[in-house]
Amino acid sequence: MTHVHITTWALGIILFFVALSLHKSGKRKGSRIVQMILRVFYLLIIGTGIELIMRYHIPVTMLYILKMAVGLWIIVIMEFILMRTTKDRRTSVLWIQFVIAILLVLYLGLKLPLGFHPFA
Ligand code: HEM
Repeated sequence: MTHVHITTWALGIILFFVALSLHKSGKRKGSRIVQMILRVFYLLIIGTGIELIMRYHIPVTMLYILKMAVGLWIIVIMEFILMRTTKDRRTSVLWIQFVIAILLVLYLGLKLPLGFHPFA
């Protein structure tokens, strides 16, 4: 089932917002620690995604490649937003990408055959 994958990315996104809010409230050290844990979650998100493909011997079609690419893109965006926020640089373009990528990955993930598929 897809529950482990869902748990890892849901916790990852929560940790991302926790790291941001800790940074904004001046708790720099706490933010850095949460960011380290978040990086472990990046690996868990990627690992559980790949594990799904291996376990169910899924033929990797274009839609799967797109799903994985957008999933990786979200991880890159989260890392960049945190990096630029700590350097007090602008992040508006990254936030627009974040929203688009989240909507796209939810659509693709839920359209693909494993787990929930309301858009199939
Ligand atoms: C933050 C990043 C990510 C989010 C928000 C996300 C979201 C999702 C969602 C919503 C599903 C559908 C679950 C279900 O129907 O039960 C899913 C499935 C899946 N994800 Fe991800 N994902 C992310 C990253 C990744 C990455 C990096 C990979 C690959 C390395 C990946 C590979 C997969 C695979 C193979 C499936 C199964 C698709 C299917 O056949 O239904 N995901 N993901």
